[in-house]
Amino acid sequence: MSYRVAVIKGDGIGPEIVTEAMKVIDKAVSKKGIAFEYTQVLMGGASIDAYGKPLTDETLEICKNSDAVLMGSIGGNTTTSPWYQLPANLRPEAGLLALRKGLNLFANMRPAYLYEELKDACPLKEEIIKDGFDMVIMRELTGGLYFGERKTVEENGVWKAYDSLTYDENEIRRIAIKAFDIAMKRSKKVISVDKANVLDSSRLWRKVVEEVAKDYPEVTLEHMLVDNCAMQLVYDPGQFDVILTENMFGDILSDEASMITGSIGMLSSASMAEGKFGLYEPSHGSAPDIAGQNIANPIATILSAAMMLRYSFDLDEEADAIETAVKQVLAEGYRTVDIMAEGCTKVGTVEMGDLIAARL
Ligand code: IPM
Ligand code: MG
Repeated sequence: MSYRVAVIKGDGIGPEIVTEAMKVIDKAVSKKGIAFEYTQVLMGGASIDAYGKPLTDETLEICKNSDAVLMGSIGGNTTTSPWYQLPANLRPEAGLLALRKGLNLFANMRPAYLYEELKDACPLKEEIIKDGFDMVIMRELTGGLYFGERKTVEENGVWKAYDSLTYDENEIRRIAIKAFDIAMKRSKKVISVDKANVLDSSRLWRKVVEEVAKDYPEVTLEHMLVDNCAMQLVYDPGQFDVILTENMFGDILSDEASMITGSIGMLSSASMAEGKFGLYEPSHGSAPDIAGQNIANPIATILSAAMMLRYSFDLDEEADAIETAVKQVLAEGYRTVDIMAEGCTKVGTVEMGDLIAARL
């Protein structure tokens, strides 16, 4: 049995962390006689340097013809990198957005939970953390403000910019279904986040989410306004299980949620199309300032690879094994510098990958 995986190592720390994830996957599946056939492709800054644009048609085709895509992270320093002197549609991030759209990756899952072993890194007070938290943000990824009509025009000598936030009911329905499906496998609670006191798109969102909820009588549905949600995340994070929200709100709330875990280097993510196809990448960025120094934390990418095994290939046992190996290595006191604590052993990117692979 062999699976075809397109690999986008990306920019900054991307190549280092993806190399470790591939090492871990290969070890995890080798016993079953499963092989992964990797095709490395370029996207983002690396693609700009090689081909003059952040995503080529060939790269998109290769990704489409794969069973899944494993990605590191893309982009550079927005003030110093020459990539950011280019027009907006030729910058690294434009490649990522075009890839999401081109692969129809409408459902972005970003888990955020507190690792017992890393509790000290959490920036919240004990009385707020209570028994910890474990949530997943289900972010709509191919609609809303990111993909609405936009333009910048001069009207009567005054520059004016437009970005439009549009959703149709089908786009809302399919992401809501994903959120309720995931909730059924968790604590059966969905909090749908919108701005229905102001926005038409949010009022339609609420209506469609309520319709979908009727098919999931076991799941509790609550609506929350986005500004309140931003506050509740740092006031009572334990109340959240599945957060369902549109593209822009999800972008912002998922950064907030990852920050309160205190360990952004640990958080994985999956962007799914209809069916089993998905793109898997860490929640964090390309951290160009620490690239090439063997100090980046590869765990978020390794856990994203575990999500790939689980969601795209139904290799639950192997995915569990990787997650257990990560916990074990942390329990043994090994830490990369971003999560280093007193009394622990500091290791580099490659050593962390080796340690995890060795426990499989
Ligand atoms: C993310 C990132 C992207 C987004 C950027 C790089 C375009 O912030 O994946 O959250 O805004 O979606
Ligand atoms: Mg973001």
